[in-house]
Amino acid sequence: MAGKKKFYVTTPIYYTNASIHLGGAYTTIAADVLSRWHKLLGEETFFLTGTDEHGQKVQEIAEQNRRKPKEFVDKIVAEFKEAFKLLNISEDNFIRTTDSYHEQEVKDLLNILFKKKLIYKGFYESYYCVGCEQYLTQSDLVDGKCPLHNRIPELKKEEAYMFKLSTFQDKLLKAIKSGKFSILPEVRRKEIVTFIEGGLQDISISRLKEKIYWGIELPFDKNHTAWVWPDALWNYVSGLRHAGKENFRKFWPADVQLMAKDILRVHATIWPALLMGAGYELPRALFVHGYFTINGQKMSKSLGNVISPIYLTKKYGADSVRYYLMRNIPFGNDGDVSEQSLKDRHNNELANKLGNLVSRTAGMCKGKYTKSKLDKELTSKLKFKEISADMENYEFDRALSLIFEYIDECNAYVQMKEPWKLEGKQKQEVLYNLVDSIRVISILLESFIPGTCEKIRGQFGFERADFKKVKFGLTSSGKIEKSEILFKKIE
Ligand code: MSP
Repeated sequence: MAGKKKFYVTTPIYYTNASIHLGGAYTTIAADVLSRWHKLLGEETFFLTGTDEHGQKVQEIAEQNRRKPKEFVDKIVAEFKEAFKLLNISEDNFIRTTDSYHEQEVKDLLNILFKKKLIYKGFYESYYCVGCEQYLTQSDLVDGKCPLHNRIPELKKEEAYMFKLSTFQDKLLKAIKSGKFSILPEVRRKEIVTFIEGGLQDISISRLKEKIYWGIELPFDKNHTAWVWPDALWNYVSGLRHAGKENFRKFWPADVQLMAKDILRVHATIWPALLMGAGYELPRALFVHGYFTINGQKMSKSLGNVISPIYLTKKYGADSVRYYLMRNIPFGNDGDVSEQSLKDRHNNELANKLGNLVSRTAGMCKGKYTKSKLDKELTSKLKFKEISADMENYEFDRALSLIFEYIDECNAYVQMKEPWKLEGKQKQEVLYNLVDSIRVISILLESFIPGTCEKIRGQFGFERADFKKVKFGLTSSGKIEKSEILFKKIE
């Protein structure tokens, strides 16, 4: 028998200069949905997320707070972990760049590149934005400031170790154009191709330790620390290898790496160049999702409009937050989120549509359901193929809206058949079709709202979710346990 298919998905690792942000929760939820979906398809999956803890940004904020950087980040990382636990995130490894195994891996990488003469000593002069933790070019600046952080970058000239990024330009273009290293959606691929065709310069990959001590020391020069980006990017290798060489062989390369457009350039240039330089296969795909605003504004501390994912999850429940974020914005597009629209979807879609279908059906069954004939008039309305294709194409909002269209069909079926007026076989048949539909729906929704689907399975006595069972008519007669309300309405 051929081995199982494998699926390795990653999120960016998040900066630990501030508490977890809804944007980070968004990417991590999407990766969790993908990982769970591929598991349902019967694949072996590995899902990596974590935190990016070194660099000037963290060093500065820790100093401002009169804390040692490690002490400072430990507190923030604890919040990330709490948030991911509350959100029912099922990562296989949560990597911290301060983990000693990771630090060693970065040193090994730098040594390899140094020995291959892909790293050399030079000077670097440019504008550095601490917010981005990146050098910017003159053309990146708007009114002399970094447009993302509204901050005047520092002009720096220092002795630095340089990475020969320029030598990878042609190989990179070839990998991207041939589709071996795919960048999705297509608009993003075009953007990157134009950017690389414009020419890649060698980049500085180190900082003087007397200035930036909060970083990994270069193995070949103790007066320098590694720039935070190569350190951070290498997490995708070290975080997987930490699960053992066997797993590394099985899962490498990554099948899809999720991120927003803010960090696509580094992921589409420096990251694959490091891999090529060290002799690794490139990831199969980068998927760039959109950037969202809150109530139409950029989320920022100074505007005071930051919504904490911990607050939302405690108030509405993990599944409502997961569902909302995946449903509200087409993955790949920019969009807006607000607590009000989360509340609306929680009440109107999860409580009214799904919650009601389940509680009504359970109530009408009065403790049991009996195997009966399928009613194609209802079951033919579920669009399996389209839902699977949407999931393949990262169109989570469309997959969810098709599943909810079917939930609407089931609710309409109740109205039309009025099972409370029926008796005997006829009644059994209507209820059976509803119960079997709920079973199928609970498999399709499993990766989005796993907690709720587990409750549904428990209540109806369904087996573990498995995509092979996503066919109608597989439910045998069974008993129904007393129900708990799936989604309480929030006024
Ligand atoms: N530490 C780097 C990434 C290193 S990866 C090797 C970093 N961290 S970050 O904390 O700033 O996280 C950026 C990522 O968070 C984005 O790429 C995106 O995945 C997510 N988002 C942060 N804000 C977001 C929005 N407003 N909207 C959508 N996603 C956003 O960059």
